[in-house]
Amino acid sequence: MTDELPDDLLAPAAIADPDAAAAVLRTHDPVHWSPRHRAWLVTRYDDVVAAFRNPALSSDRVRPVMEKGPSDDPSQRILGLISDWMVVTDPPAHTRLRRLSGAAFKQQQIAAMEERIQALVDELVDAFLAERGTDLVAGVAYPLPAIVIAEMLGAPPADRDRFREWSDELALVAFGAGGDARPDRHARALRGLEEMAAYFRELVGRRRRDPGGDMLSAMIAGGSEGSQGDALSDDELVGMCALLLFAGHETTTNAIANAIRLLTADPGLRDRLRDDPALVNPAVEESLRLVGPIKVLVRWVVADHELRGRTIREGERVYLLLPGANRDPERFPHPDTVDLARERATHVAFGRGIHACIGAQLARIETRIAVGTLLRRLPGLRVAGDPEYLPTIASRAQTSLPVVHDGHAVGSRS
Ligand code: HEM
Repeated sequence: MTDELPDDLLAPAAIADPDAAAAVLRTHDPVHWSPRHRAWLVTRYDDVVAAFRNPALSSDRVRPVMEKGPSDDPSQRILGLISDWMVVTDPPAHTRLRRLSGAAFKQQQIAAMEERIQALVDELVDAFLAERGTDLVAGVAYPLPAIVIAEMLGAPPADRDRFREWSDELALVAFGAGGDARPDRHARALRGLEEMAAYFRELVGRRRRDPGGDMLSAMIAGGSEGSQGDALSDDELVGMCALLLFAGHETTTNAIANAIRLLTADPGLRDRLRDDPALVNPAVEESLRLVGPIKVLVRWVVADHELRGRTIREGERVYLLLPGANRDPERFPHPDTVDLARERATHVAFGRGIHACIGAQLARIETRIAVGTLLRRLPGLRVAGDPEYLPTIASRAQTSLPVVHDGHAVGSRS
């Protein structure tokens, strides 16, 4: 049986339907060794949640890869740029970075962004309607989070487009370009990322001299509050800016696009959400659970341990399959249906434990406003055609979202 399990997460069937593949694994071998990935695939909710708190599983997963390759290779130099990001560190380094960056994510400050995010969504929808746009990824879901992050970091509006380019370079590096294209694409990405680092370094210098109400100024000041003189260095601030762009752009794009596909598939549900905006919040939570942007989180094993009778050994890798956990029938009754009355926020789309997404509140606000506005302003919204997903292990990313609607003439903003 084990031989027949869908444990190649890059196989076309697993890319087209990661939930079905995860369900088979969860049912037949919930802690499964995949020879293809040379990793354990963990699919049950309880096991995934426990893994987030298991000190035998490390997030320090870039450094071990770096140590293997020649240091002058472009891909190694790129790994050098990202190896200090807090998402790939363990305590105590992680504890320090998280504390010092927390100042930028105070709940009240993020909540105060709502009005601005609504205005940005309205601008994008205005342009989409004016241009008679058909692809909601290109028109709304892709640009919105890049603009939000650029603004939150206090970058001038004229620089917005550069944020999008850098975000693409980062995604290319993280999710890979296969085969012969690889060395060339990595070299190009490296040039882009070095330009990005220089840009952020300049921005950090400007904000040190002239602080504002933005996140970067908050992170700079974060060091002075109760941190006994400890503060983020310029290098760390540059790394933090890049991490926020990387962690907050593509994920939120995919959250919006995946939610729209899911929630418009049933016209009855779509119209209920349009008529009762209070339902958009639970609907977005269900979309994060059912079609969340992240499919796999990777951990390195730093101590031998047992899980469901398997011995997980130091030096191996564990893949936490979020689609497995988020549709586990033992945790979520009738797991494959959208249930607007479901107990909220128990899904693991934003992870758990010390690395739980620091931008979850911001991501939720962006997704809710984008989805609510699109349903209201594009009546009869429906997606044309089947999804095409990028062939990556980590992301559930639709390359485009072609839509039709009855609202070409409907421009009303509220
Ligand atoms: C719907 C959109 C998003 C999803 C699904 C998402 C998901 C996640 C997940 C699953 C993790 C945990 C990673 C791990 O355990 O290895 C994470 C961490 C993180 N996220 Fe998000 N994220 C989203 C949006 C954002 C946004 C908008 C930002 C900031 C602008 C952000 C910043 C971060 C950062 C900095 C971390 C690392 C936290 C740490 O290591 O302590 N994310 N995110």
